[in-house]
Amino acid sequence: MDKPTVTVRRVRPGELSSGLKEDLAKILVQVDDEFEPPLSARSGTTQAGLKDLEPVEGGGYLDEMLEQDFILAFRGDSLAGFLSFRTPHVDTRFPEVCPCIYVSTIAVGHDHRRAGVARALYAALFALPPTLPKWIVLRTWTTNEGHLGLLAELGFESVHTIPDDRAKGVGTVYLAADRSRSKTDVGRAGRLKRWLGFPAAPLPAPAAAALTPLVRGHQDR
Ligand SMILES: CC(C)(COP(=O)(O)OP(=O)(O)OC[C@H]1O[C@@H](n2cnc3c(N)ncnc32)[C@H](O)[C@@H]1OP(=O)(O)O)[C@@H](O)C(=O)NCCC(=O)NCCS
Repeated sequence: MDKPTVTVRRVRPGELSSGLKEDLAKILVQVDDEFEPPLSARSGTTQAGLKDLEPVEGGGYLDEMLEQDFILAFRGDSLAGFLSFRTPHVDTRFPEVCPCIYVSTIAVGHDHRRAGVARALYAALFALPPTLPKWIVLRTWTTNEGHLGLLAELGFESVHTIPDDRAKGVGTVYLAADRSRSKTDVGRAGRLKRWLGFPAAPLPAPAAAALTPLVRGHQDR
């Protein structure tokens, strides 16, 4: 049977139905322990100080996240993954990429991994109206290799790093991408890369400019 295709939908702050909130919370429970530190131990989505956290009563992270903007990804009728964001967001540690769209959470359910769901969520984020900030900023932990590989491919670059922020050897990295330069090539870059049989090394941004000589070089050989 064919794999269900991924469809995406934006849901504005406060407009999540109760059914979607439940589906979203189920994904969050599934992925909680994969985050460093777990989301359930955090008091909010932009919390500083992520080391040695004590368990939090009352789901502070979830409550704050549910009030944000969302892009939801579905496969068939099932919620497969989501991305929450705040906009406009400003952080004085990297004023050169602010105001920005700040991605507070991205998570994909276990049954839907490696099916292009995260890629589709980012493509929708890059395609948000130009009236919103051109910079997209997010943070992740420095050992989150799968996610960091995807982000590099999409043109994200590091703008701020906090070594050992989460545990010894596990820092926080803030990354930014200029969606006005690369939005039309999100996804296409990945498909072309696979088609060309390239290794998983990240492509430089913007993807289109980088790919043109790569394609030509490949054909020449
Ligand atoms: C990271 C995460 C969002 C990726 O979601 P996904 O829908 O499976 O990702 P995609 O299918 O769109 O993958 C796109 C590319 O990302 C990279 N990638 C994704 N997951 C990977 C993994 N586990 N290992 C290596 N590379 C990975 C690959 O390059 C992949 O392309 P490919 O499948 O063609 O090789 C998902 O694994 C997840 O929810 N993880 C737990 C939460 C998390 O880490 N969130 C980010 C915190 S900031």
